[in-house]
Amino acid sequence: MSSAVVLYSSPHMDITAKQDAWLQQVAAAEDAAALAGLESRLFGPKGEVVELVRSVTSLPKEERPAFGKAANAIKQLVEAALRQRREGFEAEELDRELVAADFDPTEPGPRARRGALHPITIVQNELVDLFTSMGFRWEDGPEIESEYFNFDALNIPGDHPARESQDTFWLDDGNLLRTHTSPVQVRTLQRLVKAGFEPPLKVIVPGRCFRSETVDKTHEHSFYQMEGLVVDRVQKGADGRSHGVSTANLIHTMKTCLRVILERDVEVRLRPGFFPFVEPGFELDVNCPFCREGGCSVCKQTGWIEILPCGMVHPNVLREGGLDPEEFTGFAFGMGLQRVVMLRYGIDDIRHFMGGDLRFLSQFPEVAR
Ligand code: PHE
Repeated sequence: MSSAVVLYSSPHMDITAKQDAWLQQVAAAEDAAALAGLESRLFGPKGEVVELVRSVTSLPKEERPAFGKAANAIKQLVEAALRQRREGFEAEELDRELVAADFDPTEPGPRARRGALHPITIVQNELVDLFTSMGFRWEDGPEIESEYFNFDALNIPGDHPARESQDTFWLDDGNLLRTHTSPVQVRTLQRLVKAGFEPPLKVIVPGRCFRSETVDKTHEHSFYQMEGLVVDRVQKGADGRSHGVSTANLIHTMKTCLRVILERDVEVRLRPGFFPFVEPGFELDVNCPFCREGGCSVCKQTGWIEILPCGMVHPNVLREGGLDPEEFTGFAFGMGLQRVVMLRYGIDDIRHFMGGDLRFLSQFPEVAR
C-alpha cells in the first residue's frame, strides 16, 4: 500500500514524498483511536492533505492543472487507505467480541412488546357494538366546532356560563374545541333532513371533547363522550292518543346499555337535571356496584352513582335540525366514557387514562380486533 501510485514531480514541491509518508502513517496506526487522530491531522480543517490540495493556487498558472490532478489523486488514495484500515480495525473488534466468553450469539434478542387497546377504546368498542346491534348508526363530528353548533343550535343562550373562557377553549378564529358531542345532534339532523331522510333515526357519536378544567381525580381537559340521539314520528294510537319517543324508551335503552357494559343487572333512577337542549332533562343514576346496602366512599354513602345526563330533545333543537316538533319527538343522552370505564374496572383516578404509565395500561390486555 505504501508504494507511490501517483508519480508527479513539481519543481516547487515533492508531493510524492508526502504521499509516501502519509500512506506509511496510515499503515502504522496502532489502533482505531490512533487512526482517528491521524485522520483529523490529515483531513481536519487545517489538515495536511487539505492544505496540499489547496496549495494549487500558489503555483504558477501552467503548473496548476497537472498539480491539481495529482493532488486530488493523492487525496483519494489516502482516503481509501484510511477507510480500509478503519474497516480492518472494526472487523478485529467484532472478532474479539465474538470470542469473548460472555457473548452468546444464540441468545434471543429483546422481545417486541405487545400493544393493547386503551381501556377507553375497549369500552367504546363494546358500546358501539351494542348500539349498532340495536339499530343505531355511528356519526362523527369535528373536534374543532363552531359556536353555532356547540351552543346556539343547542338552545344554549348567549349568556350561558358554559360559554365562558374558563370552560371552553376558544380559538383565535372564533371557533372552539367542542365541549361535548351534542353539536353532532343538530349536524346529523340537518344533513339527513336535507338529504330527504325520514326518522326514525338512531345515532351514537363517540368522540373527544375538551374543557378548560382544573385537572384532578375526576376532571380532565380532554375527555371522551358518547352522545346518543333517537328521534321518531309521533303517531296516533288505536286509543286515539299520540305516541312518540318517550322517557320510558330512554330508560329502557339506558338500562340495557348499562347492564351490558357493567356486566350486571342494574337499577337506575332519574333526577331532574338542567341542559338547555333537553326538556325535561335528567341526571341518570345507577345503583352503586361497590356496596349493596347504600354506603361506601365511591357512592358517597348514597348507594347511587351519577352516570349520565339525558333528556327529551328540546323542540328548539328539533326545529334547528329541520324537523317539526309537533310531528317528531326524541331523546338524547351524553355518556362520559371515562366515568363508565372507571366504574367498570374500579379505577379511582381519571388521570391514569392519559398518564401513559404502562403499569396501568398493561392491565387491559384485550388485543386489537
Ligand atoms: N352534552 C351534555 C354535557 O356534556 C350532556 C347531555 C347530552 C345532556 C345529551 C343531555 C342530553 O354536559
